[in-house]
Amino acid sequence: DIDDHLLPRPPVVTIMGHVDHGKTSLLDALRGTNVVKGEAGGITQHIGAYQITRKSGEKITFLDTPGHEAFSAMRARGADITDIVVLVVAWDDGIMPQTIEAIHHVKDAGVPMIVAINKMDKAGADAQKIRTALLQYDVQVEEMGGEVQDVEVSATAKTGLDELIDKILLQAELLELKANPDRAAEGTVIEARLDKGRGPLASVLINRGTLKTGDIFVIGAEWGKVRALVDDQGKQIKTAGPALPVEILGLSGVPKAGDAFAVVETEARAREVASYRASVETAARTESSMPSLEEQFLA
Ligand code: GTP
Ligand code: NA
Ligand code: MG
Repeated sequence: DIDDHLLPRPPVVTIMGHVDHGKTSLLDALRGTNVVKGEAGGITQHIGAYQITRKSGEKITFLDTPGHEAFSAMRARGADITDIVVLVVAWDDGIMPQTIEAIHHVKDAGVPMIVAINKMDKAGADAQKIRTALLQYDVQVEEMGGEVQDVEVSATAKTGLDELIDKILLQAELLELKANPDRAAEGTVIEARLDKGRGPLASVLINRGTLKTGDIFVIGAEWGKVRALVDDQGKQIKTAGPALPVEILGLSGVPKAGDAFAVVETEARAREVASYRASVETAARTESSMPSLEEQFLA
């Protein structure tokens, strides 16, 4: 079997939570970067994906999901490639609509959740208030007699970060995450865009296998041949294995977030699968834009 050779892989962790509760700041603190400062209006418009490596060698892949209602569909898709969700709740703001939405996504996906109670540096910080409030949404943290892990953090004061990473790695160990690195790569599109200089680009999370420069692939209804692979630090790399987010150059067009990625044997096969997928998409669009029988009758 092609998936016989299973090796441990890093966990894929999605950070969810209400707008401005500190998702990007927390990721910045974990990575030692400052993405928030570079964002238009401090609002995350797309899903960023990053991998961190601990001094002891363990790796964690993080997905930063947008905080706005309009992106909830993408967020729902995000939960499918996620092993663990970190739910960020700012203690001062409390449980908000998108906190509740995230809890529903997590429960639907059956993914383990760790609650990060953020902004604990602010005067009067009260994490207990959040633990109690979560009970209303059927989320019972350990202190309240349940099994959900929680951790008090401050993204700006950089406290509680090691504890959060420990809890993620502990949870990941229980999940026994494995993937075969020795096969044709498969993955999921995290984000895609058209770059003026470099052409269509896609950030892909590799689910299994190892992607190499020169590989031929199908990506949504597009296809291509890997011209270059770029990691989350902007560095060019030669190969990308399981759970690594990587930017791919060499696409025929721009795919959509959530689209499936797969390496295929030949260019002919790539064109064939891509055009089949495009025709399925066109059929679906035509169907939904076609007036219903009732509408046709009234017209
Ligand atoms: P969206 O992507 O727009 O949903 O927001 P977000 O959840 O990524 O929040 P973001 O990291 O952009 O932080 C929102 C605001 O809260 C910023 O002004 C941060 O500086 C501030 N903030 C984040 N974490 C902390 C914290 O631990 N303490 C304090 N005092 N402020 C914080
Ligand atoms: Na924000
Ligand atoms: Mg953000």
